Amino acid sequence: EEAPIYMATVSAPTNIACIKYWGKADKHWNTPTNDSVSVTLDQSDLRAVTTAAASSKFTQDRLWLNGIEDEGAPTNKRFRACVDGVLKLAKNPQKWKGCKIHVSSYNTFPTAAGLASSAAGYAALVAAMSALVDAQEEFPGQLSTLARQGSGSACRSLYGGFVAWRKGGEKEDWSDSLAQQVQDEHHWPELRALILVVSDAKKDTSSTAGMSTSVATSTLLQHRIDKVVPDRMIEIEKAFSEKDFEAFGKVTMRDSNQFHAVCMDTYPPIFYMNDISRMVVRIVHAYNAWAGEIRAAYTFDAGPNAVLYTLDQYVVEVGALMKHYFPETGAVSDYINNAEYIEQVQK
Ligand code: PMV
Repeated sequence: EEAPIYMATVSAPTNIACIKYWGKADKHWNTPTNDSVSVTLDQSDLRAVTTAAASSKFTQDRLWLNGIEDEGAPTNKRFRACVDGVLKLAKNPQKWKGCKIHVSSYNTFPTAAGLASSAAGYAALVAAMSALVDAQEEFPGQLSTLARQGSGSACRSLYGGFVAWRKGGEKEDWSDSLAQQVQDEHHWPELRALILVVSDAKKDTSSTAGMSTSVATSTLLQHRIDKVVPDRMIEIEKAFSEKDFEAFGKVTMRDSNQFHAVCMDTYPPIFYMNDISRMVVRIVHAYNAWAGEIRAAYTFDAGPNAVLYTLDQYVVEVGALMKHYFPETGAVSDYINNAEYIEQVQK
């Protein structure tokens, strides 16, 4: 009789940080030097769709990314941490003993362009494995500690809404470095995110390499960790909980700016934003000044693409503004041509 193939398919959305994670405290456990918090783009097409399959007739673990096999994956530390970590939590571990795992994952958006494709990817890997083997968490957030070992920011994509990653460090095995939902996806339905794809080219400095150089050389980073982030976490969680866009937008923009200032303070410096990114910053500030209130807030990760947070009532205005400055043949044409890149983050 032929051995069965067990399968589970899930999709996980990306998340965009408002208070940025930048700097590793423990390289082995992949834990951060500071807390961070992000919005999960629940309703967006910026997702990873992942199938995990297990069978005793498979001869080895294998991974395909966007249809192309990644031969190094089965021995890759990040992949192993996620797959083996979930297998340990299987409801019926015996069932999977003689099985090998096949994983196939698709991104619905440009990979490695600072749109947090790794966040969605590793969250989907952990979620697919978890669905496959019916994983049982021993404490809330345990699965996020596995996703975090794939890619730090991935831990935040396991929950919807507004999600914090508590840096942890009280426990020796860093099991307290995990994601925690601050507010769920129903809390602030008027909040929207617009993604401006400035470039879909691969970023030139990986976040892991960049963080390591920043930790080693940037004195601003140390100041940020000690003196800036703790207060900002309190401030932004309050703003989000009270749906105070003025406060939420301001701290989001300031934290993006400080993250990129840390990159500049790194030696040699790292440049993720480009001329178009800086133009977006200036347009947003001019727009908010004209409105007499904060109606849009930008944030940039490890790449030139902009994410604009705004409210439902201003999304057409902000979209039109961007279209005016970046017409279809212009620098952010992908955004203009792809209506699905204008995303409602929550419904
Ligand atoms: O999860 P990583 O290793 O790809 O790092 C993500 C870093 C930022 O996107 C710049 C910030 C964040 O908190 O997501």
